[in-house]
Amino acid sequence: MKTKLFEPYKINGITLKNRIVMSPMCMYSSTEEKGFVEDFHLTHYISRAVGQVGLIMVEATAVTPQGRISAQDLGIWSDEHVPKLKQLVDGMKKYGSATAIQLAHAGRKATVDGDIYAPSALSFNEKSKLPKAMSKEEIKATIHAFKEGAQRAKKAGFDIIELHGAHGYLINEFLSPLSNKREDEYGGSKENRYRFLYEIIEAVKEVWDGPLFVRVSASDYHQDGLNIDDYVEYALKMKEQGIDLIDVSSGAVVPAKINVFPGYQVRFAEKIKEQAAIATGAVGMITNGLQAEEILQNERADLIFIARELLRDPYFPRTAAAQLGEEIQAPKQYDRGW
Ligand SMILES: Cc1cc2nc3c(=O)[nH]c(=O)nc-3n(C[C@H](O)[C@H](O)[C@H](O)COP(=O)(O)O)c2cc1C
Repeated sequence: MKTKLFEPYKINGITLKNRIVMSPMCMYSSTEEKGFVEDFHLTHYISRAVGQVGLIMVEATAVTPQGRISAQDLGIWSDEHVPKLKQLVDGMKKYGSATAIQLAHAGRKATVDGDIYAPSALSFNEKSKLPKAMSKEEIKATIHAFKEGAQRAKKAGFDIIELHGAHGYLINEFLSPLSNKREDEYGGSKENRYRFLYEIIEAVKEVWDGPLFVRVSASDYHQDGLNIDDYVEYALKMKEQGIDLIDVSSGAVVPAKINVFPGYQVRFAEKIKEQAAIATGAVGMITNGLQAEEILQNERADLIFIARELLRDPYFPRTAAAQLGEEIQAPKQYDRGW
């Protein structure tokens, strides 16, 4: 059988051997608190390349030290981070995976020592730290940090960059009216709240001409927050700026109760794909080859992002192929047991 899941996918000059993407997952395993790739990361990511994942996206990687969720996050704020990231990229590529990195700033969700930053001085919940409202200089410096992060990602040899605009981290905090109460040109109207992301994309594009993805939270799950229709509008803006794919997640801007079920976010990827006519990635409780194939066959999304199932099963592509009656090539060392 010829399935869509195992059909190669071309995006802006990069070919993925199948449509399975390892979704970014923070491993909080940089033990020196300096953001470096360590042995664990090499083993963890390269195992998924051996497992034949089409595109491996390295976890949220901080563009500034204060933009880390925790002190154990990976970082890309200095040139010193590049050699180990390059070693990781080379290792993944050896087994035929395309490689991506998610560039991130945690904003008010940072838990590191010292000041933390956000569009407005509002904490996420009563337990979290109060952030400082960013000055315009701090905004410009952060945009520049994303640009430098992209430049370093290029030096490390990544094929694709994703900007983390979801889950209530800094970019998302600017987009949502629930966390952005600014009265300057970075807040207020929908257009103004988009300005921070707009300027990051423009800055990154000065140094990066490969595929550029953005992860969004397509619903704030709050009556005064953003919903999928707002994100169709934002997706159109991103498309205009040359974004290649929107990776569609949801929630986590403010504490909210979310009704979670298999494939619960696919409808958001589907709506953005249909109404903004841009490629999308579906993510969230997709755990089976048949489920993934349904999404692709019905053109509800273009790529399938898998997170926790790839923690349970590093060879998920092999499992999914078996579920679909498809044969995929093993790495040559494993031919006899595949
Ligand atoms: C351990 C862990 C770490 C995560 N870290 C990130 C991250 O760095 N960036 C991100 O955008 N999402 C992150 N996520 C969310 C996943 O990428 C994914 O969207 C979510 O787990 C739903 O997909 P799943 O049902 O396949 O696990 C993380 C999830 C887990 C379980």
